[in-house]
Amino acid sequence: MIEDFTRRGVLATGATAVLASTVAIPSGAGAKETVSPRLRERLAEWRFHLGHAADQERDFGFGRNQRTFAKAGNSTADAAMAKFDDAGWQAVRVPHDWAVALPFARPEKPAGKDSEDAAAAHGFKAIGRSFPGNSIGWYRRTIAVTAADRGRRLWLEFDGVFRDCLVFVNGHIVGRNESGYAPFAVAIDDFLDYDGGPNILALRVDATLGEGWFYEGAGLYRHVDLVRADPLRMPQWHSVVRSEVGADGARVTAATEVFNSGAAEASGTLRRKLVGPDGREVALPDATFRIAPGERTTLDGEARVTAPVLWSVETPKLYRLACEIVVGDRVIDADETRFGIRTVRFDAERGFLLNGKQVKLLGTCNHQDHAGVGSGIPDALHAFRIAQLQSMGSNAWRSAHNPPAAALLDLCDEMGMLMIVEARLNSSDEEAMGQLDRILRRDRNHPCVIAWSLGNEEPQQGTDKGARVTAAMQAHVRTLDPTRPTTFAFDNSWDHGAAKVVDVVGFNYRTDKIEGFHQSFPTVPTYGSETGSTVATRGAYANDAAAHVARAYDTEHPWWASTAEAWWTIAAARPYIAGGFVWTGFDYRGEPTPYAQFPSISSYFGILDTCGFPKDNYYYYRAWWRPDEPLVHLLPHWTWPGREGQPIEVWAHGNCEEVELLLNGRSLGRKAMPRNGHLAWSVPYAPGRIEARGYNKGRRVTRSVCETAGPAAAVRLTADRRMTKAGGDDVAMLRAEVVDAKGRPVPDADQMLRFSVQGDGAIIGVGNGNPTSLEADVASERRAFHGLAQAILRVGAKPGPILATVSADGLKGDAVRIVAMPADS
Ligand code: GAL
Repeated sequence: MIEDFTRRGVLATGATAVLASTVAIPSGAGAKETVSPRLRERLAEWRFHLGHAADQERDFGFGRNQRTFAKAGNSTADAAMAKFDDAGWQAVRVPHDWAVALPFARPEKPAGKDSEDAAAAHGFKAIGRSFPGNSIGWYRRTIAVTAADRGRRLWLEFDGVFRDCLVFVNGHIVGRNESGYAPFAVAIDDFLDYDGGPNILALRVDATLGEGWFYEGAGLYRHVDLVRADPLRMPQWHSVVRSEVGADGARVTAATEVFNSGAAEASGTLRRKLVGPDGREVALPDATFRIAPGERTTLDGEARVTAPVLWSVETPKLYRLACEIVVGDRVIDADETRFGIRTVRFDAERGFLLNGKQVKLLGTCNHQDHAGVGSGIPDALHAFRIAQLQSMGSNAWRSAHNPPAAALLDLCDEMGMLMIVEARLNSSDEEAMGQLDRILRRDRNHPCVIAWSLGNEEPQQGTDKGARVTAAMQAHVRTLDPTRPTTFAFDNSWDHGAAKVVDVVGFNYRTDKIEGFHQSFPTVPTYGSETGSTVATRGAYANDAAAHVARAYDTEHPWWASTAEAWWTIAAARPYIAGGFVWTGFDYRGEPTPYAQFPSISSYFGILDTCGFPKDNYYYYRAWWRPDEPLVHLLPHWTWPGREGQPIEVWAHGNCEEVELLLNGRSLGRKAMPRNGHLAWSVPYAPGRIEARGYNKGRRVTRSVCETAGPAAAVRLTADRRMTKAGGDDVAMLRAEVVDAKGRPVPDADQMLRFSVQGDGAIIGVGNGNPTSLEADVASERRAFHGLAQAILRVGAKPGPILATVSADGLKGDAVRIVAMPADS
């Protein structure tokens, strides 16, 4: 490891030194030279093969004759050696989750209820102890190294590998990282061949054990970069930028670390400037240094920005700190750190304040998987997920229960989504503190990050031990980032234990207890760290326990939880509650509450399903989280053959003052919409058209219509974006909807839909949001579920048009044209 990330290491460096900051990783594939000699290259293409946790030969001889660890570089596993032939291995592109392509299965040897529960929690994928042949993954690739690299420092930056990753370079074990969520770096320059190679990277990733109680994926599911730099350089996360905003502008301070990893003393100048969102530059004074070999120094500087453009949810404007190390007249190293100028504060009376203004946290908790690709989420899919939540009015995300991908944070910065970053472990042991240390260093320049969450429903939350552990973590947060508060998601013990330590006390569910807490502890800021959570199957309107179906009215929830309306009504009316984070924004794999048995493989908690298709509750939140935009949403659909004359429970979500319901043109009455509530009617079914009209101040402002559909006749295909970027990484999200001859959605359609692509692109995964579907994700066909399916189209390397089509037996197909623009356009 090039940085000493352990707690001991941190203490040894004096802990007051500000060591690091976020390096904005350039998106897109291939090498991108910033300035000589620093070069950052994204390593997207790898060869992949499953190994074996129990059979040494099928694990490429790993551990053979106990020699893997005997002599460095000489006698490790075959697959780690340069001469190994990986021609038969699968070509994969990172982000890659190998678990998502595995079949669904119950554990082969169910060892009682626990093993079924654990398998359910992880989404019934055939991985883990019962599946040793699926639980080890090997990755290999070459890297191009030339004579010009001799003398440079080269290192790999992994943003997260699931999990327990052993890194080999030319047969040498060069690094190991246990955590499935924390970033890590590995120095490799000692192990390279500079005279023509080949130079082989190999990774052995062991996902036998999980960390969470939810689907976690497996493998290289986040980005990997290779960085080359001069021995006199800025290390990873080298700068921390802070700003104080006052009446006369912002005072911006920067602390940048310079590391002399060369053999001789080095001196030079650190040149820095701030670059504003409008391109305007403000220089910091030059700082000179003289550093002994192997030593580091931190150089402080400051600048005043007059009339700063403040970062906010509505105007997520970013600044950059550009740094150069100059020796003589040569630029030896150069890099940038993105940041935003803004203030955040939690207040016990006023809730959350961004730039001094009260902002209610309209949040969701989310795990990190999506239909089709599992946890291997391309950057553009992160952006799609943020946009789906923002369309509902959401402004905040809690990364439950682990640090998020750096790519997600970059996009939250750019798109204006606030983020609570959560540590995976509530512990002060060396491993957990090392993880926390790396996360703080990686993430503390992101303006989107508003708090550090140090625990979630920990068994020790209400104990002295929990308080001590949390205090140790908090002390480290204070050292590396005194600008943000700490928090913790409690499901009890709000008035003792770790709750006495952290700055902001989170309530998981039990939103109704916040008022009493506030009265007893009027100086402690609070919010709902998990709220709701309604369980629902998208498009279903009757419970069916045998079929594992939960109706999508806002009525069903587990005993510890509540409906959307119940928690939001409480939080909305109390300014001291900073807001809440619904469990969850999206359905996720695993934890199929309330039907935690096979074949339910994903959660029912989402406001949106695993594809990001809205369930009806989406419109409840959208109504009250975007109150200035008139909305009415009717449920259920209006296609109930055979139920003529029978009562149908009809609801309207919406924010208009009054709603009138009409069936086939006949008014069924006008009702006042309760604030933060909904309206309900019982309507005898007659096919045709049901309509809800929304009125404000007596004027009709919007409406929602459902019409009885005829038989399925066609599929309609749309894409979230028509313009994409060539290069191999961008994706367009395709939505296929089954409609009747008149273009009306067919609510129960379940035809098999087949996707295909002409041009340089490929379907990398499909989904339909059905929590009981055991169909393959890595495929190009999928049954519609309640009329909808999704396909993820990855754009290839070459610019040009791409035609995506959908077809289905007996239905008229459809096509959508996507354009891949040149990557640098
Ligand atoms: C919470 C927990 C979440 C999830 C949820 C399901 O207690 O923090 O991770 O398990 O329950 O309701």
